[in-house]
Amino acid sequence: LDIYGEQRINSKGFNLGDMQTVDELLNQVKAENTLKHHATSLIPGTEAMGDLIEVHSPANLDHAVGSYHRAQAADVELALSNAQAAFPNWRDTHVGAKAESLLKLADLMEQNSHTLIYLLQNEAGKTLGDCVAELREAVDFCRYYADQAQALCGHGEKMPGPTGESNFLYHQGKGVFVCISPWNFPLAIYAGQIVAALVTGNCVIAKPAEQTSLIAHFTAQLIHQAGIPKAVFQLVLGSGSQIGTQLCQNNAIAGVVFTGSTQTAQIINLNLANRKNASIATLIAETGGQNCMIADSSCLPEQLVKDVINSAFFSAGQRCSALRVLFIQDDVADKVIHMLKGAMDELITGNPQLFSTDLGPVIDEKALAILNNHKAHMEQTAKPIKSLAKPELKGHYFAPQAVEINGIEVLQQEIFGPFLHVIRFKANELDKVIDAINATGYGLTTGIHSRIDDTIEHVVSKIQAGNCYINRNMTGAVVGVQPFGGMGLSGTGPKAGGPGYLRQFLTEKTITNNI
Ligand code: SER
Repeated sequence: LDIYGEQRINSKGFNLGDMQTVDELLNQVKAENTLKHHATSLIPGTEAMGDLIEVHSPANLDHAVGSYHRAQAADVELALSNAQAAFPNWRDTHVGAKAESLLKLADLMEQNSHTLIYLLQNEAGKTLGDCVAELREAVDFCRYYADQAQALCGHGEKMPGPTGESNFLYHQGKGVFVCISPWNFPLAIYAGQIVAALVTGNCVIAKPAEQTSLIAHFTAQLIHQAGIPKAVFQLVLGSGSQIGTQLCQNNAIAGVVFTGSTQTAQIINLNLANRKNASIATLIAETGGQNCMIADSSCLPEQLVKDVINSAFFSAGQRCSALRVLFIQDDVADKVIHMLKGAMDELITGNPQLFSTDLGPVIDEKALAILNNHKAHMEQTAKPIKSLAKPELKGHYFAPQAVEINGIEVLQQEIFGPFLHVIRFKANELDKVIDAINATGYGLTTGIHSRIDDTIEHVVSKIQAGNCYINRNMTGAVVGVQPFGGMGLSGTGPKAGGPGYLRQFLTEKTITNNI
């Protein structure tokens, strides 16, 4: 069995061993169980040995995965001055050399796949399928941005001009970028942000989500091994409210790449704007969503249910792209809900190290508490569809839930987990549905299930969402194939894995020469 199948069509030459079987891979990953990972910040000139934090797997709280030291305020200051000093040289390094390092990093990730998969499973609680897909996405980012950067930065762009005058437009890095990445894609989004900033000639200080410090540290070592100088790429570990704030308030910062909540993006924006006498910083933010799928009476129920299960519950619903609200036309609602209940009964929530598991744990106690609160609230206010029981395991498990609600307005916030809300609508209410979705202000992903071309075209043209998926699931954007990112409260753009992404990391310089 070739488990890599067609999951990532854009990955070139990905190789974890020819036709490796699931059992072989699982055994190799399990062999990593005995290793303990220890992480620190990576800042030349300091050991950065602040508080020591123990890491336990969200899938098994008895499993100690390792530990890490938080950085202290003085370490962060040093990282900032290191990055500033390193910037001019890195900016002026030829893009070909930078791209080479990205290609080397892609190879190193493949060579270290077992450790990366082990950490994704045991620090982030991901299933094997999700781990492989994430690893391949990270590799794709490296190779895709290496290609894009060479096309964009390798030479000046000749502009038209009068006889006797030459005009060229050049692109160069902006300065020091802070990359603040989330725990739900601790490899792919983390690496994607970093390599985009590096290959365009910026120095990077990465501040990954604390929950996934170990995988961030392991990958950071690969980035250095790939040839990126230590002051050009630095890692700081610690809390977002302290370290993230300290970084974003500093005048040395030229830009911030952030993936996380809309509220945090707004705070970062304020911090950047409030700096006195600093240049105006770039903010690339990919934030939350209230993602909906609309299915009319022409949908194919079997396909719809399969795509709903995949989009709402896989990855334990911990994707920003995941489905939160299914709008189903009332003519087919009873049939679809009946099938949905049956399909949900088949879902296995449990140990992500087992290949049979469909969804693993949620990331931590706080995430679990929010989901349990929402469940209690829905038990009082919504009509139950299906409530699966959580497994008797010592981890942060939350089994899939589905409820029927009367309107999307009752959802005050994004519920980040395997929780589906279903709303019925009548044939003549399609515009009302579209307006209600747009009124949330979010605009990340939308799904449409219909066999009527006019309906599909109508929804696609009216819905304000960055990624629209028709008659398929609505997660798992592929680099270079489905550029990914939202609008409105869901983010600033440009889209990750798309042709416009790197330009945002670059500043432009026009050279006019009167020959
Ligand atoms: N890019 C991911 C997806 O498409 C979400 O971050 O599911």
